[in-house]
Amino acid sequence: MRLLVLGGSWFVGRVVVDDAVGRGHEVMVFNRGRSLARFPDGVRRIFGDRESPQDLRRLASHGPWDVVVDVAGSVPAVVRRSVEALADVAGRWVFVSTISAYRDWPHAPVDETSPLWDGDPDVDPGIRRWDPDAYGPLKVGCELACRQAFGDERLLVLRPHVVLGRHEYVGRLPWWLSRMSRGGQVLAPGPDRAIQPVDVRDLAAFLLNQVERASNGVFNVAPRSEAASYGDMLNACAQATADQRRTPLELVWADEGWLVDQGVRQWTELPLWRHAAAPWGMNVDRAHAAGLKCRPLADTVADTSKWLRTGGRPVDHERFSEHGIAPDKEAALIRRWLDRTPPPASASSRTHG
Ligand SMILES: NC(=O)c1ccc[n+]([C@@H]2O[C@H](COP(=O)([O-])OP(=O)(O)OC[C@H]3O[C@@H](n4cnc5c(N)ncnc54)[C@H](OP(=O)(O)O)[C@@H]3O)[C@@H](O)[C@H]2O)c1
Repeated sequence: MRLLVLGGSWFVGRVVVDDAVGRGHEVMVFNRGRSLARFPDGVRRIFGDRESPQDLRRLASHGPWDVVVDVAGSVPAVVRRSVEALADVAGRWVFVSTISAYRDWPHAPVDETSPLWDGDPDVDPGIRRWDPDAYGPLKVGCELACRQAFGDERLLVLRPHVVLGRHEYVGRLPWWLSRMSRGGQVLAPGPDRAIQPVDVRDLAAFLLNQVERASNGVFNVAPRSEAASYGDMLNACAQATADQRRTPLELVWADEGWLVDQGVRQWTELPLWRHAAAPWGMNVDRAHAAGLKCRPLADTVADTSKWLRTGGRPVDHERFSEHGIAPDKEAALIRRWLDRTPPPASASSRTHG
């Protein structure tokens, strides 16, 4: 197939491109060339800014494509200009959206029919900085812009839960791995809380499998919620970094409600931890029925750790630095937690070498 990937050089897009080339597809990527991504042989790069109508016209002249994959569109008016510029040269369109599109997330479980935020396909907020409150409604607007141009028949929308793996620039798993490699007492929440991050390779494989099948519609993409717990993830991080540590590691599991009372910033200070009713309540029956395969979370952790230790480096991104808790704050919280809890409760801490 002849594929055009809009973006393709940071994280999800990059892995989609690698996988698509491995499958023998003819792949072009369109981006500004700001990251120093190296693509596999055979990938054709077209440089340009998707915010520029002129660049979009030039891009269209390189078509037609069987499928265009818009990995990272996040401004509805910009996505709208892209779909309009490429509608005549794209057989089908794939848009990567997000769980944040659901109005009730993380407070109630969501499936593909759950209510979305109100979205406007024409809106442009003007700013391009990351804004967690605007993110969901903007992605809904992008979905609408794609649907208006391609209809339901020619459009595939994926709504992944959190994505982890090599090239992750948001900084969630990289922070946990780095923290565990330092050793000492590590503040850890909710060991039994089920979590559903999806490996970027599994997301890419699912996307391309659906593309090859000419599938349409909307799919949530994540492992099943019973597949892994928060404790599994942290223990896998501890294991993956064992030989980097000079100081033994002790995971200190603190009560989630207590952490909230202490003002620990959810989702970012202790990455991927959120004390809500259903942060990991994504129904993924539809994708699994369509063939989604998710590897064990421990494999994602181990492979990402290996990638980082062998020189892998994600692109610089403004969101990276918002993840993680300051060492002195963590130490003070652990002292406070242990002072009020009679140790040793067998479940309250675990020691790793
Ligand atoms: N991370 C998660 O946990 C998570 C969870 C759910 C959903 N998602 C979704 O997954 C997607 C992740 O995307 P990604 O960032 O990994 O995609 P990507 O395609 O790997 O990277 C973004 C691309 O956009 C290009 N780009 C940025 N601005 C551009 C412009 N004005 N004109 C042309 N190209 C431009 C960048 O290259 P240049 O800078 O060189 O132009 C880069 O190639 C997003 O849609 C996100 O909403 C992520």
